[in-house]
Amino acid sequence: MCGIIGYIGPKDNLELGMNSLKRLEYRGYDSAGMAIIEEGKISSERVAGKVNELREKLKERDSEGTPCLFHSRWATHGKPTKENAHPQFDCKREVAVVHNGIIENHKELKEMLEKEGHEFSSETDTETIAHLVEKFQGEGSSLEDAVRKTMELIRGAYGIAVISTKDPEKIVAARMSSPVIVSSNKEGGFVASDPAAIVEHSSKMIFLEDGELAVIKRGGVEVTDMAKRKKEKEEVRIDWDIKEAQKSGYPHFMIKEIMEQPETIENTLRGRIIKEDGDVKLGGLEQVREELKGVEKLTLLACGTSYYASMIGKFLIEEIAGIPTEVDLASEFRYRKRPYGRREAFAFISQSGETADTLKALEEVNNKGALSLGIVNVVGSSISRYTDAGIYNHAGPEIGVASTKAFTSQLAVLTLFSVFLGRQRNLSLNEGREILEKLESLPSKVREVLEKKDEIKEVAKKYGEYENFLFMGRRYNFPTALEGALKLKEISYIHAEGYSAAEMKHGAIALIDESFPAFAIALSDSMREKMVSNIEEIRARSGPVIILGTEGDEGIKEYGEDSILIPEVTEPLSPLLSVVPLQLFAYYVAVSKGFDPDKPRNLSKVVTVE
Ligand code: G6P
Repeated sequence: MCGIIGYIGPKDNLELGMNSLKRLEYRGYDSAGMAIIEEGKISSERVAGKVNELREKLKERDSEGTPCLFHSRWATHGKPTKENAHPQFDCKREVAVVHNGIIENHKELKEMLEKEGHEFSSETDTETIAHLVEKFQGEGSSLEDAVRKTMELIRGAYGIAVISTKDPEKIVAARMSSPVIVSSNKEGGFVASDPAAIVEHSSKMIFLEDGELAVIKRGGVEVTDMAKRKKEKEEVRIDWDIKEAQKSGYPHFMIKEIMEQPETIENTLRGRIIKEDGDVKLGGLEQVREELKGVEKLTLLACGTSYYASMIGKFLIEEIAGIPTEVDLASEFRYRKRPYGRREAFAFISQSGETADTLKALEEVNNKGALSLGIVNVVGSSISRYTDAGIYNHAGPEIGVASTKAFTSQLAVLTLFSVFLGRQRNLSLNEGREILEKLESLPSKVREVLEKKDEIKEVAKKYGEYENFLFMGRRYNFPTALEGALKLKEISYIHAEGYSAAEMKHGAIALIDESFPAFAIALSDSMREKMVSNIEEIRARSGPVIILGTEGDEGIKEYGEDSILIPEVTEPLSPLLSVVPLQLFAYYVAVSKGFDPDKPRNLSKVVTVE
């Protein structure tokens, strides 16, 4: 969703703010803006466009003032116009607010404020916050007290940063269900909605909890709760190398992150495999190790790409650990009346650790008192904090909106987790060792697939003009087919459906003709023969087929117009490899159509609204 930044300090604030905002652009990019206190007044710049357009505008400016706010927007209320861009202001332009989230009761509050004489100039829910702060400051409150009183009235999700000319030496930030990170060092004080924005300036960050408010001044940060009680907050160290949050010579983050996968999988595995014991060491699960031994059922909850990783996780856990496992969309889970067993555990899988639907499902599970685990990439994020224990992906920052390296690292974590649980149960030392050896050999196989990128690019070029696409696979590669279809539709806007190849004949096959190609994952595994039959059914209806097969299986090529062969891999681990050509295919189709894969329309990297 939206990206927010605040800075107070001695550095060139426009340059610093714009660089940080650029790193947050993946959160939203339909409009952008900034505000700064200069000579006792708020001056601002807003554009109905991307962050670069704001940067162009700011070139003409020379602003030394501080504090300042920056924002990149993903519209929820009101079209992406200049007026609706953030910062939003009060009547007298003495207060500026940037906001990520939704204020659900903004209509009632707006009516109340209008009756009191406030004049609104945008269609946003955010503007209500600026007027409320104005109202309470007008009644004599300090900026932090005015924000606190505002928090008592607003309902919904928000991460906000506020500045005011009446209290110009600070930024006040607050959180309710939307991430807010604050930090301060000799370079100044920072607020951001994502560690990636400020990691260049500070590696130690404080993650605000719901209902907390931070006052950021040049010399430090003070956090209090709604009752004005001072909170002692732990600083979380983020060990990201700034290069990881830059394109490093690649044209897009998405291709950089696809190409990084051998290293990210290695990072996920590093230090966790104990080969001699055929076992896995997961520090984050130590405190619940004994409890996990008694777990008789697991439920995996996630959204988007993380949900498809969870579907594969179910197969892995059931096959390797022998624990009955359910998977559900986090958004649906909480609306279902579900009986809870006594020996159940729930795992929440999320790259960002901030997805609102996943967080709400976690809240539900925590209220029921069940054991909750997190499989999360962003260190210190909400899901990692609100779960009882968990495993970090260590995939580094993922900036491309279409998730790639996070998916493969989630699969690597889920395999480790399955072996961990399996070794607590019936998985033998040899079986454990065998899986782990195969897992360790994966990064070099992913490298081999990546070497085929030009071949995949050529195939992609041929298919960019089609309007529909079917992706199909079986068993472990059914979710891979879903992920392949998701990648294609989200960045190239081609309608794509993922199907179990078997299920296709119960409906989707009605659509097949020469204008409806299919991407078939037909590896040399237990499902090869069944896949061939399903491919034949497509070809009998003149549908063009691209085959994803296994090297050495030359025979599979005859079933497709085009084929891509990948190294042999054991079936449970095959999605880690088979997804890579699908990622590359989607990337090159999008690029050949002239789209920016890092900024797909209407999408956001971190979805902090329900
Ligand atoms: C958004 C992103 C997807 C991601 C999904 C879940 O829709 O665009 O790439 O898979 O959210 O995000 P999470 O951070 O919870 O994995």
